[in-house]
Parts: sequence; structure tokens; C-alpha cells
Amino acid sequence: MKSELVYLCLLWALSILGAPVNKQRQRVLLISFDGFRWDYDRDVDTPNLDKMAKDGVKALYVTPPYLTITSPTHFTLLTGRYIENHGVIHNMWFNTTTTEKKPYYQTQFVNEWWDNGTLPIWITAQRQGLKAGSLHFPGTASSYQGQVAMVREVEPRLYNYKNETAWRENTDKVMGWFRDQDLDFVTLYFGEPDGTGHRYGPDSPERREMVKQVDRTVGYIRHSAKQHGLTNSLNIIITADHGMTTVYRNGQVEEITLSKIPGFSFSDLSFHLVDFGPSGMLLPKPGKLEKVYNALKGSHPHLHVYKKEEMPERLHFAKNDRILPIILWSDPGYVINGVLQFNKGEHGFDNQEMDMKPFFRAVGPAFHKNLKVGPFETVNIYPLMCHILGIQPEVNDGHLNATKHMLVTSTTTQGEFISD
Ligand SMILES: *[C@@H]1O[C@H](CO)[C@@H](O)[C@H](O)[C@H]1NC(C)=O
Ligand SMILES: *[C@@H]1O[C@H](CO)[C@@H](O)[C@H](O)[C@H]1NC(C)=O
Ligand SMILES: *[C@@H]1O[C@H](CO)[C@@H](O)[C@H](O)[C@H]1NC(C)=O
Ligand SMILES: *[C@@H]1O[C@H](CO)[C@@H](O)[C@H](O)[C@H]1NC(C)=O
Ligand SMILES: [Zn+2]
Repeated sequence: MKSELVYLCLLWALSILGAPVNKQRQRVLLISFDGFRWDYDRDVDTPNLDKMAKDGVKALYVTPPYLTITSPTHFTLLTGRYIENHGVIHNMWFNTTTTEKKPYYQTQFVNEWWDNGTLPIWITAQRQGLKAGSLHFPGTASSYQGQVAMVREVEPRLYNYKNETAWRENTDKVMGWFRDQDLDFVTLYFGEPDGTGHRYGPDSPERREMVKQVDRTVGYIRHSAKQHGLTNSLNIIITADHGMTTVYRNGQVEEITLSKIPGFSFSDLSFHLVDFGPSGMLLPKPGKLEKVYNALKGSHPHLHVYKKEEMPERLHFAKNDRILPIILWSDPGYVINGVLQFNKGEHGFDNQEMDMKPFFRAVGPAFHKNLKVGPFETVNIYPLMCHILGIQPEVNDGHLNATKHMLVTSTTTQGEFISD
């Protein structure tokens, strides 16, 4: 009994003397609003986004990795790696031998597709003693070296991604995870304004209405954080995976139709992924690579054709066995094989195009207030989050020096923050 008492006294003394006074724990909530282009707040009133910028940091825009599509770019947010380095090179799992493909939703459940040598931040955080969660974020359904986020929710196959009431319920759920299950890090995903941008186009009144819905939700998120008593510990980062651009309507321009290109034949290919907006990948049959390449190269002024090994270095989309030998992409407004595509908006274009850039906002105790910063690449969000959480990052392609000026004290690590 006596030794127990000594032990308790020792613990008490340690808690007084050992821990820094006023140590404020730092948590992070990473939110993605799919397809929210950097300038979507310019033609819509967004009082809540404006308030968030005033209370925190706003970047002019951020640059996503190429290929600018949903699963690959989200996995870059989670890993800080370019797509050729993390291996989630497409929304669709495929097997070039069997020619089998799985659509976006089914691919979420293919562990071997996601778990290709790079650990997402949930797992890294958990291995270092933190608690992580995820709601609907791409990559949540898969396991990584046998591990998953300790609290997670994957949406059902047929899910209404635009239901504002459900958005509020999901927000409260995540805030409850922080408060009641003591989580340190959570990722939260909303499937809009991507869906509306595809269907009606980025210049449509429908897209502007959806941006108002996003803005109301941003207000709700901050309100909910406060209601759950998280204001002093929670850092909220809001960004997106890619932007959106208007597709030229039929007859407006000369379309890119592969089957009409002289000298090109699908029978020279053993596998292809081409009917998905502006990008494509081809696997020619043995001995047919030069023939396919020569037929396509220069065949249309708005079609870019590259052999994998000749891809521009800046795209970081070549050095991976999953990337097929010939890569195609079109200029903004053009889609490849558009005959069966009815979207008025598309993404997947070159990440240099301004219409492909997402927005970025951050607010919380780690961030400066009322600070506008210049653009940076989304690979840099990962080291920023690791730094705030006080965890050792995995090997990644980002640099803290690209984002640390957004933080209250650029040299701060967890435990050194001073609460007010
Ligand atoms: C593709 O399918 C073949 C035949 O079933 C199989 O041998 C191969 O391992 C599969 N490759 C991948 C990457 O799944
Ligand atoms: C990544 O996936 C490819 C098949 O697509 C496989 O050959 C390779 O071994 C995987 N690498 C790791 C580290 O899982
Ligand atoms: C929206 O979500 C709420 C709450 O989950 C649900 O009760 C309602 O039926 C949904 N409405 C639609 C149109 O899906
Ligand atoms: C950050 O540091 C890296 C390596 O130390 C360097 O290559 C890069 O140019 C730096 N970036 C900025 C924005 O300072
Ligand atoms: Zn997306």
C-alpha cells in the first residue's frame, strides 16, 4: 500500500514537472470537397469560407499531382507521394492479362491496388501511438500491411453524395469521434461539387448552388467543432483532389476519336483504358508499339501522345510498372473518344492547367490568422499534417519548407505549442 502511494506521488510529480506547462494537444481534420476548383468562391457568395480565411490561412490555389483524378490524387494527400511513387495510378483497378477492370467504387475494396508499398498517414499515426479515423475518404476501405484506420466508415455502393442533411450528420459523427473516442487525426470526404461539375459544367448555376451548399457546410463544420469543445485543439484543413473544366459540346470542335485516326487500330492493342475523359493508357500487342505510337503522335492538334519513358519529368507519371507503355491526354475542353461521354465538365487534364487546381484553407491553433499564401503542390500537405501531429513522416515527395510559413511557429512540434 505504501509503495502504491509513493508511485502515485511520483506520477503526480511527473505530471507537474515532466510535461511542459500549457501544452496543448494538436489534432487534425483533413477534409476533401471533391472537385472544388480554386476559384469557385469568386462567383458565389461564400461567407463561411471567407470567415475561415480570416480566421486562418488561404492559399491562392494548390497543384494536384498528375493524373488529376480522384483516387490517385487523394492518395497523394494521404501519403505525400507523387502518383508514380505511391502506385494508385488510376481510379480503376485493371489486369492487362485478363483485361478485367473494376469501376471506382469496387476498386476501393481491392487491397493490392492501394497497398502497394506506401503507407497512408492513418497507419503511420497509429503506429506512433495516435488514433486515426476516416469517413468516406478514398482509400478508407482498403487495409495497409494488414492495418486499417481504427474508426472508419465507407459509404454504401449506391450513395447520395449531395445530401446536405447527411453532410451535417457526418460532420457531427466525426466531431463525436474526436471528442468521445479521443482521435487525433480524421479524414472526411464529400463527393461534391465534383458530381454537379461533371453533370452541369463548372460554369453552370447548378455548380454555383452546390458551392453555396459547401459553404454552408463549412460553417456547420466549424460550429460543430465548437459545440464538441474542440476549438482549442483541432486544426481543420479543407482542400480537394482536382478542379474541373468545361467540355466543348459536340460539333464545336474537331473531336478526338481514336478509331478514325488513319493507321490506328484497336486490334493492335492487347489492353487499353481510354473512355474516361481526357486521359488514356494503351498496351500495344508485342511488336506493335511503334506502329500505334506513330499513328497517334501528331494525329490531332489537341491530343498529346507519349511513350512512358518519354513522359515529361514534371508530371511524375511514368516510373511505375502499372503505367502502360503509351500515355495519351488531351487539352482542356477536349475528351478522348467522347461519343459516349455526356459530361459537361471534366478533370484529368495536365496539372499545369489552372482549371485543374483545387482550393486550400486551414484554420486552428497551429495556423496563422488572416494569412494569404501563394500556391504549393498538394504533396506538401502530408509533411505539414505530420508536423502538426508530431509524428515522423514516411518517405515522401513533399517538403515542410513549402508550407511551414502557414504555421504559428515554424519550428514548432507537438508539445511545444502554447495554448492561450
Ligand atoms: C492478372 O491475371 C493473371 C491471370 O489470372 C494473373 O496471373 C496475374 O497475377 C494478374 N495480375 C495482377 C496484377 O493482378
Ligand atoms: C505493386 O503492385 C505491382 C502489381 O501491380 C506488384 O508487382 C508489386 O510487387 C507491388 N509492390 C508492392 C510493394 O506491393
Ligand atoms: C438525406 O439524408 C437524411 C439523413 O441521413 C435522410 O433522412 C434523407 O432521407 C436523405 N434524403 C435524400 C433525398 O436522400
Ligand atoms: C525545400 O527544401 C528542398 C530540399 O531541402 C528543396 O529542394 C526545395 O527547393 C525547398 N523548397 C522551398 C519552397 O523552399
Ligand atoms: Zn475527384
